[in-house]
Amino acid sequence: MTEPPVPLEPLYDLDEVTLEGRIRRAKEQLGERCVILGHHYQREEVYRFADLTGDSLKLARLASQRPQARYIVFCGVHFMAEVADILSAPEQIAILPDPAAGCSMADMANLADVSATWQAMGKVLEVERLVTPITYVNSTAELKAFCGDHGGTVCTSSNAEKILRWAFAQREKVLFFPDQHLGRISAWRLGVPLEEIVVWDPDAGPLGGLTEEALRRAKVILWHGFCSVHQMFMPAHVEMFRQRIPGVQVIVHPECAFEVCRLADHLGSTEQIQSVVRAAPPGTQWAIGTELNLVNRLKNEMPEKGIHFLCPTICMCSTMFRIDPQHLCWALENLLADHVVNLISVPARVAASARVALNRMLAVV
Ligand code: 13P
Ligand code: SF4
Repeated sequence: MTEPPVPLEPLYDLDEVTLEGRIRRAKEQLGERCVILGHHYQREEVYRFADLTGDSLKLARLASQRPQARYIVFCGVHFMAEVADILSAPEQIAILPDPAAGCSMADMANLADVSATWQAMGKVLEVERLVTPITYVNSTAELKAFCGDHGGTVCTSSNAEKILRWAFAQREKVLFFPDQHLGRISAWRLGVPLEEIVVWDPDAGPLGGLTEEALRRAKVILWHGFCSVHQMFMPAHVEMFRQRIPGVQVIVHPECAFEVCRLADHLGSTEQIQSVVRAAPPGTQWAIGTELNLVNRLKNEMPEKGIHFLCPTICMCSTMFRIDPQHLCWALENLLADHVVNLISVPARVAASARVALNRMLAVV
């Protein structure tokens, strides 16, 4: 018999130890039926319960590699749970413990605006022949489906250059959304001059604020999106660390602004940042430009290295932070009572086209 749903609110009255004990017990009882995936930006009190952790690419792959788990509980943000739903087996169920855990960058591009852009560009260029649409994985399933339907693909922060290279082997130009910074630095590192990289702002007029001439000349057309967390890192912060700590190595996420990426010694996804810093010898000094929870975790894990947060103010992803231990406990205990809370289910037609785009990416990297 199905038990009544477990309410969320009373979990906020529990002390930390009791709450942790309940999560542990629920996890044990669910056993192999449930896998918890955790992104590196998750707060420690949640991250410690993840069975598998990673960056977006690794988690996308892992989502399809635990077929015995009926439930995939995703401790991350909405687009990641959508990818898990799209790539997992049909009988598997993806759950996002708090549905308000979105991504403000993903919200900066929607299907209506991107479709209108494609049409507007089509008045100047033969888009289907000349332009490959690429969506950063931080985007809705609908935009991934758009790319699937128009010969395009998806990229993540760990493979953007490889995906751009693939795209240039298909067609002459790329429309890249939503993150302008990842698109710009990746294209520039492949040798595309800045003069051939333009920004399309859908609020800036019929041609996204561009002239026909600029659009024809462009090799890469970037959407005007950005990450509000990573835009806090400034070139002055890099310079300050270089002055303050001689020999410091600066490593940043490619969602940081172009000048910050250019000044850094290394660029990488969250998984790559973690691997590079872990592989470094004791005594080395690191200034890291990415979300605070990951930097603090690396700092605690490696006291033998100097690990510093690149920004003097706190840059946290408030939506990643929405997944708290209470929501995790609530989601797990409801599964035990046969209730699925916060199911993430991408409509079949959208999922089919989005899967085409994601599989194109997975075939390249
Ligand atoms: P990663 O794929 O590098 O984990 O990045 C995800 C993200 O949202 C960074 O802000
Ligand atoms: Fe989105 Fe930025 Fe948060 Fe990453 S850090 S999930 S890009 S808002």
